[in-house]
Amino acid sequence: MQTSSIINHSDSTRYARCVEVSKRIRWEIDKDVFRGRSFDHARKFLPDGLSGIDRFTFLTDGEKRLLSQVQGRTYANIFGLVERFINAKVLEVSRDHWFGDQTALEALVRFSDEELKHQEMFRRINEMIGAGMPDGYVFAPAPNEVAAVVLSKSTWAVLGLTCHIELFTQAHYRQSIEPDAGLSELYKDVFLFHWREESQHAILDELEWRREDGRLSDAERDRAVDDLIDLVVAVDGILQAQSEADAKYFCMIAGRAFDAGERDSIRTGLLRAYRWQYILSGVQEPRFSGMLGSLINEQQGDRIRTALGILI
Ligand SMILES: [Fe+2]
Ligand SMILES: [Fe+2]
Repeated sequence: MQTSSIINHSDSTRYARCVEVSKRIRWEIDKDVFRGRSFDHARKFLPDGLSGIDRFTFLTDGEKRLLSQVQGRTYANIFGLVERFINAKVLEVSRDHWFGDQTALEALVRFSDEELKHQEMFRRINEMIGAGMPDGYVFAPAPNEVAAVVLSKSTWAVLGLTCHIELFTQAHYRQSIEPDAGLSELYKDVFLFHWREESQHAILDELEWRREDGRLSDAERDRAVDDLIDLVVAVDGILQAQSEADAKYFCMIAGRAFDAGERDSIRTGLLRAYRWQYILSGVQEPRFSGMLGSLINEQQGDRIRTALGILI
């Protein structure tokens, strides 16, 4: 048994608390979330706080709503995408607990089980939303191909990216989805239920990321910081391609012609929105920046800030 699998009392209590909450709030896709409902296309899907919709000043209210629905479909698909590699990494790190703290092991097994359920839910959401929209929507990134790239990087970097994602999930629900009164009821509920289970995941990410950090030498951590930067750049590559695809689809289904300047504004507006959703909103979350800041030195922090600077 490696020393890293020995868990102190306070961490042990946190794993136990995650198991307890996970059991208490457990939900089922059909019985609790969908409840026979469909997405209401007369309402928005993604809230204004995430979609950056105010920037699209030349769109009518109906067009803005349609664009929030295209973004909302992509938002669900992105979660389905990242949860593939998140689950694989969680199963991998659970190995350290096989013969150690059995409560920590149970917490990670439940985490994995929940992510499998979430992936199924997001696959079905893509089909349900698609049934109410014209053909032609494209979500290009393949979960297994993205997972292969992500999992080729160090565990420290993957856990850092995962912690970032699961913390922004929390922030998005609390700050933007919950307070927006104009959303499809089902769309809002999906992210209410998702948020509830993700709260435990974010705690487990912090525990596992810190545990992994404790076994790295300074040189290994320094390379892991480069890996984390590579991962953010890879995420941005996905966002560039998807904002282009979503802009094309929106212009095709909006029912009127846009001039070249408007088409460009739609594409760049979507890229800005996606960078906010999947990169910058999480980086600005105090819980994430505090956690990352506690693990790295000043020079490593500068490298990360420089890499993020080009995205703003
Ligand atoms: Fe999830
Ligand atoms: Fe999660």
